[in-house]
Amino acid sequence: MTNTAAPALFQPAAIGSLALPNRLVMAPMTRNRAASDGTPSPLMATYYTQRASAGLIIAEATTPNRVGQTYADIPGIYTEQHIAGWRAVTGAVAAAGGRMFLQLQHGGRVGHPDNSGLSPIAPSPIALPEPIHTPSGAQDAVVPLEMSTADIETTIADFVSAARNAIAAGFAGVEIHSANGYLLHQFLAQNTNQRTDSYGGSVANRIRFTREVVEAVVDAIGAERVGVRISPGVSVNGIDEGDTDDIYPALVSALAESGLAYLHYVFADPDQPLFQRIRSLWPGTLIANPNLGWGVPLPEDGGGQAARRLLAGGADLISLGRSFLANPDLVERFRAGAPLNPVRDAHLMYVGGAEGYTDYPTLAMAPTTH
Ligand SMILES: Cc1cc2nc3c(=O)[nH]c(=O)nc-3n(C[C@H](O)[C@H](O)[C@H](O)COP(=O)(O)O)c2cc1C
Repeated sequence: MTNTAAPALFQPAAIGSLALPNRLVMAPMTRNRAASDGTPSPLMATYYTQRASAGLIIAEATTPNRVGQTYADIPGIYTEQHIAGWRAVTGAVAAAGGRMFLQLQHGGRVGHPDNSGLSPIAPSPIALPEPIHTPSGAQDAVVPLEMSTADIETTIADFVSAARNAIAAGFAGVEIHSANGYLLHQFLAQNTNQRTDSYGGSVANRIRFTREVVEAVVDAIGAERVGVRISPGVSVNGIDEGDTDDIYPALVSALAESGLAYLHYVFADPDQPLFQRIRSLWPGTLIANPNLGWGVPLPEDGGGQAARRLLAGGADLISLGRSFLANPDLVERFRAGAPLNPVRDAHLMYVGGAEGYTDYPTLAMAPTTH
């Protein structure tokens, strides 16, 4: 693989008071390498440290409480062990010159009693329309319990304590996951939110939960330490927003004045009118995750060309997932115009162990074939 990365990618940037040496962000990626109690493993420290040259690393989806756990062996950030495990990761990455945010993800209906030990909770009792991975294999999803007002308040409080824990664990900030069909996205979308209280129905009501989570976390740790991830129009995990072009401008406008660290836009396309609208409504840093095609191999340049188009189209930072997964030294490879490792063995993405995780070679270690 060769690449055509843009020189603008190598210009320094800043998020609040956090200086970034380049504009390449490692996108959050679930890799299921934590211990079964959610404690980050030493192997995770190795994996992230290998990728410390990223302008910013956004660490994988991490659950703020037990009921929010999506899949097996994903990390948590709600016990002392979790904090200690993450502190080892952030310390190693900092020693290697890197910076990390932590993505906070509550799965909502994307969860299973065999994964979390609890019945999943969601805005409405509507099951995920597809099987979910559990330790004993794929199983039908269960109907989640409808969240009461007390559940909503508890969940917001859990996001707040998770964010405080993340700062205690050495993260520069947190990313609130309001994308890809998980709990916050389930509140945004019409097909998963059929509530008749003040959290359902109108656009103003369906954005309320994301807004309240973000505001509470901002109050706790400060706006410049809080980012938000959105995926307008993305139908993963059975999501159908119904009114994508209304809900996102409303959400982004509601968050626009809060001075957040960034907005992170999944599958961004600079030619798309909604992307342009969101860009014009968002006064702060916009991280764009280019739409490189999903379920198909990465383009040969690993997203370099798409990154250039998005920077020209108004994005401030570019996040890449799979190219970082396969290339620990992605920044150096882009800078040198060097060939990229392709992702190998896609089935190794979500299983434990070092294979397909910490064994991708750097340029210095091994020549790649292309
Ligand atoms: C193995 C893997 C795990 C992922 N896990 C997460 C996650 O935990 N949180 C999230 O918001 N997105 C997750 N994603 C989506 C990525 O952040 C990114 O949006 C997606 O891979 C598209 O970017 P890319 O084309 O550069 O890979 C994951 C993607 C991959 C490949």
